[in-house]
Amino acid sequence: MVTGAGGALGTDLVRLLREQDEPVTAYTRPELDITDGDAVERAVGAWAAGEGDERAVLLNAAAFTAVDLAETDPEAARAAHAVNAVAPGLLAAACARHAARIVHVSTDYVFDGAGPRGRTAPDGGAAGYEPDDPTGAAGVYGRTKEEGEQRVGEAAAAHHVVRTAWVYGGTGANFVRTMARLAGERETLTVVDDQYGSPTWSADLAAGLVALGRSDAAPGTLHATGGGVTTWCGFARAVFDELGADPARVQGCTTEQFPRPAPRPAWSVLSPASWTAAGLPALRPWREALASAVRRHPDLLGHTPAVR
Ligand SMILES: NC(=O)c1ccc[n+]([C@@H]2O[C@H](COP(=O)([O-])OP(=O)(O)OC[C@H]3O[C@@H](n4cnc5c(N)ncnc54)[C@H](OP(=O)(O)O)[C@@H]3O)[C@@H](O)[C@H]2O)c1
Repeated sequence: MVTGAGGALGTDLVRLLREQDEPVTAYTRPELDITDGDAVERAVGAWAAGEGDERAVLLNAAAFTAVDLAETDPEAARAAHAVNAVAPGLLAAACARHAARIVHVSTDYVFDGAGPRGRTAPDGGAAGYEPDDPTGAAGVYGRTKEEGEQRVGEAAAAHHVVRTAWVYGGTGANFVRTMARLAGERETLTVVDDQYGSPTWSADLAAGLVALGRSDAAPGTLHATGGGVTTWCGFARAVFDELGADPARVQGCTTEQFPRPAPRPAWSVLSPASWTAAGLPALRPWREALASAVRRHPDLLGHTPAVR
């Protein structure tokens, strides 16, 4: 069962499961509002009764993802809390009642972005966060997601929480689309070059989550992102490269020079060690994934003429 089936990740989960002839019960937001406890109980009960064995896995891809709005608008903050904090607990409790497993998706924003304390990578740089590094979200969205993780953990369902980062896909607005549009509108572009993370194509993440759902990995929290590390500026230059435009038209700036309502983690890198130790296939390097993503979804790049 997939909730949030109309979002970037949800769309790819449903597509993949159908391609693999896996029976899937998918709910977009109009079909199932995950904040409605009675509706959740009815939907999970009916679905799990139909599955009738340990194959019943609920993949929750629903979330309130308007990070800046949640920071500035109290009504949006309440909605974010209902969807990201309370509802995952409702889903997990329903899964517990009906002997289903839940795979819940969370975010790098649960970390403050200062990097894991006291650990460095083998090359001497900052290490990626491991699942049991202390969390401490800096903004409203991250705090709601942090609480959602806790509520899933408390619900006594067999569960996995999978934190990911910098997700884009064929559905909805995202960084790739925005950069492609701006490439057509502006001669040069200034993009933050001091926040580090790993772009993640929703189709690769979906494949990883499906593999997790079929695995016998021990319950708990895992990290899964595209491989490698870049900055938003590096990501934007790669989009220009895919467009056939000159990446040098993208210039770096600091976070201070581009303030946003919600704080962004400076270091969003999530270590893949927990994922691979669970026997799951690492997601491919982010640059390779971007090339595949734009081949599958040419509209990601719009119709911008190449400007070298
Ligand atoms: N995007 C990122 O960069 C990123 C980074 C880290 C982690 N994540 C996590 O990855 C997961 C998937 O995100 P995404 O990028 O696929 O986000 P998305 O494209 O915004 O999709 C989220 C989906 O959830 C739906 N939704 C919102 N409220 C709902 C409700 N009450 N009941 C049912 N569905 C509801 C949304 O519907 P509407 O569009 O109609 O509101 C949307 O279809 C989320 O858990 C997110 O927190 C995302």
